[in-house]
Amino acid sequence: MSDATKDYRFAIQTSNISRKFGDFIAVDGIDLSINRGELFALLGPNGAGKTTTIKMLCCLLRPSSGTATIMGHDTQKDPIAVKQIIDLSPQETAIAEHLNAWENLSLMGRIHGFGKEEVKKRSEELLEMMGLTNRAKEQVRKYSGGMKRRLSIAMALVSDPQVLFLDEPTLGLDPQSRRGTWEHIAELKGEKTIVLTTHYLEEADNLADRIAIIDKGKIIALGTPDELKDSISDMQVMAIKAKNLTDDTVEGLRMIYPETREVVNGIEIKAKELNFNEIVDYLRSKGVVIESTSQKQITLDDVFLHLTGKELRE
Ligand SMILES: Nc1ncnc2c1ncn2[C@@H]1O[C@H](COP(=O)(O)OP(=O)(O)OP(=O)(O)O)[C@@H](O)[C@H]1O
Ligand SMILES: [Mg+2]
Repeated sequence: MSDATKDYRFAIQTSNISRKFGDFIAVDGIDLSINRGELFALLGPNGAGKTTTIKMLCCLLRPSSGTATIMGHDTQKDPIAVKQIIDLSPQETAIAEHLNAWENLSLMGRIHGFGKEEVKKRSEELLEMMGLTNRAKEQVRKYSGGMKRRLSIAMALVSDPQVLFLDEPTLGLDPQSRRGTWEHIAELKGEKTIVLTTHYLEEADNLADRIAIIDKGKIIALGTPDELKDSISDMQVMAIKAKNLTDDTVEGLRMIYPETREVVNGIEIKAKELNFNEIVDYLRSKGVVIESTSQKQITLDDVFLHLTGKELRE
């Protein structure tokens, strides 16, 4: 990207950024323009290239080709400037297990060059925000997975970064901790530019300003949650609650309707034209007991399956 084409309205801009590992192309020519204050979600199946992309944006990995700027600073030419304005909560949580939450935060604050008093004040605020105040003096190795994820986010916030990267902030959490963590992330919305990756589509749907779906190193769709759903609004989704479904029966349906997926207590079928009677007759002929059928609103899961042929939570 030449200086003349850089647009400083964007917090993050990438131009044809790619990364190879040997002959394997993990990230394949990604162009992104992320606005200041935007909450941007990267969605994709395992191995799609999300973490690799984030590592390149955080100056932890050099791109094989292409460029990226954060607030106008080139990640390769000026990594020191970039590192001063970003922070990352990595997928593999990097916290010192033998220290308590308080000590982890202080250490991180001091590394970033803040004075003792300032670090203390910020740590208190962040522990409160992440709901860790009561346990702040306990060794982190005694924390649950959810508490560790929340501490990891707090640690990424100590330096008050302008741009925050959260790689799988809710991975492995139970639904309650997940919701709690997302509430904390929502509090930051608008204040900071946030790029996060997640496997939970309904959460991205509720929180993200825009979503990029990435598969095999390429962006295959990008837009607001509504825009993504509208992109397949010409399709119908039929939800069937049923008993006695076998793998063979589902496979049979997939021959006619490839986008048939198994859900709890039944199946969902998506297609441009659905023949309700034909489907019900087929299922009955296979001994399936149908409890209910209904037409379903399109969700991001449907968009994802349509675009990638895969379910996100496989
Ligand atoms: N250091 C490395 N050496 C070789 N291959 C790598 C390396 N890092 C990543 N890869 C490969 O690059 C691809 C993309 O990996 P990446 O971690 O970016 O995926 P991801 O989208 O974050 O997946 P997940 O959802 O599982 O976190 C994978 O096939 C991975 O095995
Ligand atoms: Mg990853």
